[in-house]
Amino acid sequence: MATAADLPRALKELADFVGFGEADTQTIRSTAALVLAHEARLTTALYEHFLQHPQAAKFFVREDGTPDVERIERRKHSLGRWLEEMAQAAMGTETAYYLLAMGLSHSHRSWGRGGTVPPDLMVGAMSLTQTALAQVFAANLPAAEALAASSAWNKLLLLHLTVLLRGYLREGLRFGGPS
Ligand code: HEM
Repeated sequence: MATAADLPRALKELADFVGFGEADTQTIRSTAALVLAHEARLTTALYEHFLQHPQAAKFFVREDGTPDVERIERRKHSLGRWLEEMAQAAMGTETAYYLLAMGLSHSHRSWGRGGTVPPDLMVGAMSLTQTALAQVFAANLPAAEALAASSAWNKLLLLHLTVLLRGYLREGLRFGGPS
């Protein structure tokens, strides 16, 4: 079974498996400015969505049930940093461990009334991000470019998700281990 030390190699192998190559890397980088121009709107939309759903909202409300504005602002900021990191389409060791640490802070730390963040919410958050990005591309790019951008970002988002979910999976990843 792959261990944490194999993570960077696992990420590269999985990137090969899903066909995330040079063309996708170029597409991510060439659409980075467009994505980052919408950063505030994307992060706000995600957190507004969380607040409308009790399973997600409980991580971001105070004891009296009102939104914990400070925690939400902190989260928007770190989500923005994650988008910036993703926009570089990096697949190296630093990115792998940045994502692992981020995942572990969801799977292994308890947050206020919410407890640890359940994995299905992580998957749901990634789905919401995919949808929001597809809308940005569709509204701002010619159809063929929007399709290429959505395809590349979707691959990258799910590569990130695989690492974020690592702390939840008892078996760990098979990629990166002995073949
Ligand atoms: C696309 C998926 C997600 C990404 C990329 C993400 C990103 C981040 C990052 C970068 C941090 C700061 C990490 C740290 O302090 O180590 C964080 C913290 C946190 N996240 Fe997420 N997150 C995601 C999904 C979720 C979901 C679905 C929830 C719950 C509904 C959630 C709740 C939290 C909480 C409660 C914190 C700590 C809050 C605090 O600082 O007080 N996250 N997240």
